[in-house]
Amino acid sequence: MYKAGILGTGYYVPEKIITNFDLEKIVDTSDEWIKTRTGIEQRRQAAKDEYTSDMGVKAAEKAIKNANLKKEDIDLIITATITGDYPWPSTATIIANKLDLSDIPAFDISAACSGFIYGLKLADSLIKSGDFKHILLVASEKLSSITDYTDRNTCVLLGDGAGAVIIGRSEESEILSTVIHSDGSKLELLYQPGGGCVNPASEETVKNKLHYLKMNGADIFKLAVEKMPEVLEKALKLANIPAEKIDFVIFHQANIRIINNIAKRFGWPDEKNIVNIQKYGNTSAATIPIALAEAIEQGKIKKGKLIAFSTFGAGLTWAGAVIKL
Ligand code: UT7
Repeated sequence: MYKAGILGTGYYVPEKIITNFDLEKIVDTSDEWIKTRTGIEQRRQAAKDEYTSDMGVKAAEKAIKNANLKKEDIDLIITATITGDYPWPSTATIIANKLDLSDIPAFDISAACSGFIYGLKLADSLIKSGDFKHILLVASEKLSSITDYTDRNTCVLLGDGAGAVIIGRSEESEILSTVIHSDGSKLELLYQPGGGCVNPASEETVKNKLHYLKMNGADIFKLAVEKMPEVLEKALKLANIPAEKIDFVIFHQANIRIINNIAKRFGWPDEKNIVNIQKYGNTSAATIPIALAEAIEQGKIKKGKLIAFSTFGAGLTWAGAVIKL
């Protein structure tokens, strides 16, 4: 068995910034409400002709470069997204094509906000088994394409962006544990009702706004504060690392109150808690790899550090992981 680690990271966020003040002009909300209830001050929005695959490619190119690899070294692409370029085929194959890579396998994972850690678990196993050498895991979301900008309950939360990592054989860096869970009985707490075979696109589904993301925020909040620490505890135990040994934690960036509440419970001070929700909002699968890549780029997180991840999202799905960078 080989050891698998993260060899390189990259991220990309679109240029256009939507501030809370911009949203005040289109829905009944306020900068004060959004900041105090969520921690978000602004989010990015992709251009009309800038797609999930384009953002993914930009993040991927940076990750490949940071890993000191050539794109031809990549032998598998996994994309975590709920806002693929098309319902099918996968966005991973589109990313492969845009990177000028043909023949290599490429597929998507649909695990919403947990997609990155689901992908990490899969990539870890595929590297350990010896089947692949360099896996590109891209989490990319154009949530603005499924956001109802008349619904103040959701439109203030969501943003666009992409994060990518290269996972490969390594002696220094190591994925120490990954834990993934799901509960399909509560899917209606967070989902897109239209566009699948239950409600295929029709005049009716468009009129009833079924192609937008729908969320019961309060119920999701309650479950997130229960499941995220639970899965984090499991990931720490599996990695055999006590919480106090963790150098940095990166939570899914959905709400600052969830993030700070859990960090406090584990005894992690602000310096260990990597937060960028104020700048990018909730980018679903992309929040964790964007925060990781950005913190590395800023020189905050260095090689050899122990990092814990925890997330919760649609499915429902939740996941945790511990890595040594
Ligand atoms: O990424 C997947 C995981 N997602 C999450 O983890 C998100 C979890 N949920 C949350 O972060 C929070 O539940 C929200 C930020 C979505 C909502 O915050 P909350 O403190 O739970 O507010 P609430 O839903 O209980 O609503 C409180 C009030 C309501 O008004 P009434 O009914 O009390 O009069 C809402 O209508 O706040 C109102 N409200 C707003 N007011 C101003 C909801 N959204 C807004 C808004 N601006 N944007």
